[in-house]
This record gives sequence, structure tokens and C-alpha cells, in this order.
Amino acid sequence: MINRICVKRILSAVCVSVMCCIMATGCGSSRNEEENASPANEAIVVGFSQLGAESDWRSANSESMRDAFTEEKGYELIFEDGQQKQSKQITAIRSFIQQGVDYIVLAPVTQDGWDSVLEETRDAGIPVIIVDRMVQTANDDLFTCWVGSDFHLEGCKACEWLYRYARTQGMSGDDLHIVNIQGTIGSSAQIGRTAGLEEYSEKYGWDLREETPGDFTQAKGREVMAQMLVTYNNINVVYCENDNEALGAIEAIEAAGKHAGGDLKNGDILVMSFDGVNEDAINYCLNGTIACIVECNPLHGPRVESIISTLEAGGTPDKLEYVNETLYSSYESVDAVTIDSVAYPVTILTQDIIDTRAY
Ligand code: AHR
Repeated sequence: MINRICVKRILSAVCVSVMCCIMATGCGSSRNEEENASPANEAIVVGFSQLGAESDWRSANSESMRDAFTEEKGYELIFEDGQQKQSKQITAIRSFIQQGVDYIVLAPVTQDGWDSVLEETRDAGIPVIIVDRMVQTANDDLFTCWVGSDFHLEGCKACEWLYRYARTQGMSGDDLHIVNIQGTIGSSAQIGRTAGLEEYSEKYGWDLREETPGDFTQAKGREVMAQMLVTYNNINVVYCENDNEALGAIEAIEAAGKHAGGDLKNGDILVMSFDGVNEDAINYCLNGTIACIVECNPLHGPRVESIISTLEAGGTPDKLEYVNETLYSSYESVDAVTIDSVAYPVTILTQDIIDTRAY
């Protein structure tokens, strides 16, 4: 299938030759020639700047985008991996502008620092759809719309679950000694989840011992947790800002001869996580090794595709589209959490639920 970039090039070549004809003969019909040059089923070109490949969530997200933007569906997807570097993502966006893509989709590694390049996309007249993490811009008109998760709400859900679960164990606020393995610093996923924990620690008087970045990876999660277990001898909760970090933390806990689980009175370390994408992590949640996972849904491909279809049809998509997400736990003692007067049910995990999930 021919794409719109080729069509634009053909049309401009046609225009040049028509102009030559007009100049040579003094007359001519550019309209017919343009119609002949524009095939009915030209592909829509989408430039996607993915931030990297740090986690299982990210792999599922990239796959979802690739599945949504196929040739059969009328798209050409130009996929660029930013390798966790904002500078690489900015270079990719500039190359999309040069290529004259129809849409730019950006999964930003960090929240800040996008204004200049988004001004360039605006000047080029290319709609930009932000996906997953958010950007912080001086002016919201610099991007067309955003779809992703409410990371702060995710953090609040995790903390409210912890508060309720600790009560069922007869523990009060100052019995909880928590460490946080943070995600990539400056990403909206990290900012929202960390803010949730800090607010609830303040509210309930939890002993938040340390917060250290684990970059959303298993290797860093293990390294950071191993160090924290040496530094503090009373940790009983580890708040991991994604599944991969949680897997690394569990390895470190076991290597230190401790047990990851929910029996706080008998010295267990309660592991909390976000995502629910990694298969080992969800199985750990089923057997109680991970106490609670707040879902972060990676399947944004069809959502972004639907936004582009709306734009193609001349419609206006919602500026911000939040995805509904649940909490998983196999501990039945907490069945719901309430945040700002809204009750969110906990999905009590079973094998059947795992088998029927979309990822
Ligand atoms: O932005 C979403 C976060 O990024 C996911 O929680 C994490 O696994 C990923 O790397």
C-alpha cells in the first residue's frame, strides 16, 4: 500500500510538472492529474516514539501498538526506541517531522522538557498524541490529546489497601517500616506513585525509611533492595513501583534469608507492586508472595488507533482519557478501597481470572 508521504511527494512532483506545463502552454488542469496521482487507499503514517524496553509492561505496550497499526488496517508505523533517553526521543520526533508523517505518538520517558519540540510539531501541523505517561507543558495546546493511567490514583489505591490490610493484622501506623523502590525519576508514573506513598505515610504516620530509584528494572530492584536490607533491620513493607522491581526485591529478600508474604506479625516482608503484566509477578500475587498489585494497563494500541480514527473523521477526541484499572490481591481480608469517597473493589485473584485476562 502506498503511504501518504509518497502521495504528498507525488502530488508535489505533479504540481511542479503541471506548473511547467502551464508556463509552457499557458493552460492545463492540475485537478485531474492530482486525482489520478492519489490512490484511494493510501496508508496513514504514524511515527511512534517509544521510550524504551525496560519492563514487561513496556514490551506489552509496544506489541499492542504494533498490533494496532498494521498495513492491513491501513497504517504504516514508524517505531523508534528512545532507550530511556529524552534526547533520543526528541531526535525521533524531529525525524518524524522531516519525513512528514501524518501523526506522532509519544510515550515520554519523563514529564518535563518537551515544549520546544512540541512547538516544532505544532508549527509543522502534525497532531501529537501522548500515550501512557504524561507531559508537563506550559501550554496544553502543544499536544492533541493524551491516553494513559492515573498514576497518582494507582499510588493512593495501593496505600489505602496497605492501611486496611495492616489493620486486619492488628498493626497500627507506626508499626509499618516502609522502603520505596521508585521508577524512573521524573516520569509521571514515578511521580504519581511516589506522591501517593508520601501522602499516605504522612496521613497514617508510617515510617517511610528510604526512597531510591530502581529504574523499573528487575536488576536494579534486586540491587536496591539488597542494600536496603543491609541498612535497615526492621523493613516490613517494600513498595515497588512496578512488577520487575518487585521480582528483583523478592530475590533480594530470599537471598537475605527473609520471607516475602503477608504475615507481618511473624516477620514477613509485604511486597507491593504495580502493573500486573509480568507472568511471574501475577503468579506471585496468586500465591501471596506479592501482597497486592495495582493494575497498570499497557494495551493502549487500540485506544490510540481509535483516537486517530476520530481525528481522521474530523472529530475531536477527549483531551485526557484515563484508563480504568483494578487492584489484585489473593488476600481476602480487604475487598475494596475508598479514595475521595469513591469505592474501588479489589479483584481477589484466582487462576480463572489470570487465565481470562487480556495480558
Ligand atoms: O509508565 C508505565 C510504567 O512504565 C509501568 O508501570 C512500568 O512497568 C513501565 O516501565
